[in-house]
Amino acid sequence: MNWDETTDSPAAGAERLVGSVADREDQAVEAALRPKDLGEFIGQEKVREQLDLVLRAARARGATADHVLLSGAPGLGKTTLSMIIAAEMGAPIRITSGPAIQHAGDLAAILSSLQEGEVLFLDEIHRMSRPAEEMLYMAMEDFRVDVIVGKGPGATAIPLELPPFTLVGATTRAGLLPPPLRDRFGFTAHMEFYEPAELERVVHRSAQLLDVEIEADGAAEIAGRSRGTPRIANRLLRRVRDYAQVKADGLITRDIAGAALAVYEVDPRGLDRLDRAVLTALLKLFGGGPVGLSTLAVAVGEERETVEEVAEPFLVREGLLARTPRGRVATPAAWAHLGLTPPGPRGGGTGGNGQGDLFGA
Ligand SMILES: Nc1ncnc2c1ncn2[C@@H]1O[C@H](COP(=O)(O)OP(=O)(O)O)[C@@H](O)[C@H]1O
Ligand SMILES: [Mg+2]
Repeated sequence: MNWDETTDSPAAGAERLVGSVADREDQAVEAALRPKDLGEFIGQEKVREQLDLVLRAARARGATADHVLLSGAPGLGKTTLSMIIAAEMGAPIRITSGPAIQHAGDLAAILSSLQEGEVLFLDEIHRMSRPAEEMLYMAMEDFRVDVIVGKGPGATAIPLELPPFTLVGATTRAGLLPPPLRDRFGFTAHMEFYEPAELERVVHRSAQLLDVEIEADGAAEIAGRSRGTPRIANRLLRRVRDYAQVKADGLITRDIAGAALAVYEVDPRGLDRLDRAVLTALLKLFGGGPVGLSTLAVAVGEERETVEEVAEPFLVREGLLARTPRGRVATPAAWAHLGLTPPGPRGGGTGGNGQGDLFGA
């Protein structure tokens, strides 16, 4: 699976209802929805089991846990897990992020003020500056930093001992981390997208915390449109709750969820207006492709980058669109999803049955 789908830049559609980066409202409400311990954390069975062992063993030894790297797309629970690690270790947590650390000195200040056993959560660790990164190597390995005092030829490095701490790094792109940094983590957890059944549990749990009444079918409807991402599930739940309050008696049924998300143009597969515009252009204007990215972008009236970075990754992940050397190509599933019939000699008949010819030579 690739994480490219969701860059962590705000330009990647943070304001879309189905965007996976946290918007202001998410930030305000997420704290209340975060599972507090591993037992409450839904899904990610492998990661949970492995992390449980790492933490238990450290606790039994009375030691500080090994450094942990969490990689995965936005909204899958990295920040939540970092807090859980601290909670499970009974340790305080300090939260910062790569972009917040401009200079090595910023990092030195944080590191030198850590308490013994503290968890340092470094979000977007791949966006840290090079000098800070190098300081971090030594801190992770030897619990020591060299603080540079003075400037120019007279500058001296003063070694500073650090208390043992646990670094929890989070990244949307494990591949972007320099190997020396990656190697200094004792444990790396790759977070996967969630299965619909897991997202249903997320929706039920959040509904309970938000005091919202929801039927099983209603939760399934929301889960199915949430793109494998708990953050999106929680956001759709809030919009559906609003609709249920205004248009009905507050109870979320399948019909209410479907009607609410139709208002917000989130279709049953979690595609929004932009995704559908791209697919529709590809199918109706270009017969399913292949067509170049720029041509496709012009046809939907969007920037090239928007189509490529915001819409396409999910379409590719869903198996609706393929990027080929000759251009963008719709898959048979795309025709079926939009209820259209592919053209071509053998493409007639029922929608979505145009098989492999669509991929060209
Ligand atoms: N496994 C999970 N179980 C329940 N809720 C989850 C889970 N993972 C994420 N969430 C919810 O999704 C939201 C986003 O999670 P977060 O940890 O901030 O994601 P990330 O840091 O990876 O972007 C939070 O509100 C959190 O409560
Ligand atoms: Mg986060």
